[in-house]
Amino acid sequence: LHVLVLAGGLSYERDVSLRSGRRVLDALRAVGVEAELRDADVALLPALAADPPDAVVIALHGATGEDGSLRGVLDLCDVPYVGCDARASRLAWDKPSAKAVLREAGIPTPDWVALPHDRFSELGAVAVLDRIADRLGLPLMVKPAQGGSGLGAAVVRDAASLPAAMVGCFAYDQTALVERYVPGMDVAVSVLDLGEGPQALPPVEIVPRNGVYDYAARYTAGRTTWHAPARLDPEVTERVAEVALAAHTALGLRDLSRVDLIVDASGQPHVLEVNVSPGMTETSLLPLAIQAAGLDFGRVLGSLVTRAAA
Ligand code: DAL
Ligand code: MG
Repeated sequence: LHVLVLAGGLSYERDVSLRSGRRVLDALRAVGVEAELRDADVALLPALAADPPDAVVIALHGATGEDGSLRGVLDLCDVPYVGCDARASRLAWDKPSAKAVLREAGIPTPDWVALPHDRFSELGAVAVLDRIADRLGLPLMVKPAQGGSGLGAAVVRDAASLPAAMVGCFAYDQTALVERYVPGMDVAVSVLDLGEGPQALPPVEIVPRNGVYDYAARYTAGRTTWHAPARLDPEVTERVAEVALAAHTALGLRDLSRVDLIVDASGQPHVLEVNVSPGMTETSLLPLAIQAAGLDFGRVLGSLVTRAAA
């Protein structure tokens, strides 16, 4: 089996992706899979045509890796890959679209407003702030409609800090997602399908040392503590797993995903987003969940590529 691990690309999450790619490569090689790492650049298409691999692992995060475009290229070249198809990827990547699908399916997700930059400029910060705070209350969560790794995201606790948060967000995307902030436990549930249908892995509880799970807290060793499984009552753990599986299915995902959610004080999960190309770095959550499930990361990847290639 010849496997190509794609990492890098030109998104804001290039560095994270390179770390994910190296870890995936090492894990595959450790279980005897012949794998190589390559960037997603202009030479990719001819390389795929000249020497098509048996399967691809997409360790790309951010635009190219998650917006469906790369998956479309792989489809064009008839090269199988691990994970969902281009259409599902594009849907999950656009947070307002994904949230609308989740809500339609009866899956709880915090109330939101999607605000294009043009509209923000046209109305002016003060009017926007009034309208949004009226509708959603405070605090709020502001994040790029399309993005990842906490880049451009901020919690807004008072009206005066909303304009700065919006500007920070618009640095990363044309559209801001403004969400009602739900206080509670940050939990990530990885979903894995090794051939017997999607299964939820043990939920991982995220405790960032400074209280905010931002880029530094995600990727600097020692900045975040995890509990896997999360410290939740058994019935809440079960509910969280059900909601995660429902989200994975509602978005039409395949093979693996990571559902990020908040569990509020009453034990109710609220889905924030679903990642189709979850981080695989040393500090990422999916590898941690695999370990907590008593599985071996390399073997899981080996099984996913074998299934993709079949
Ligand atoms: N966007 C990062 C890589 C994640 O979701 O893990
Ligand atoms: Mg994400």
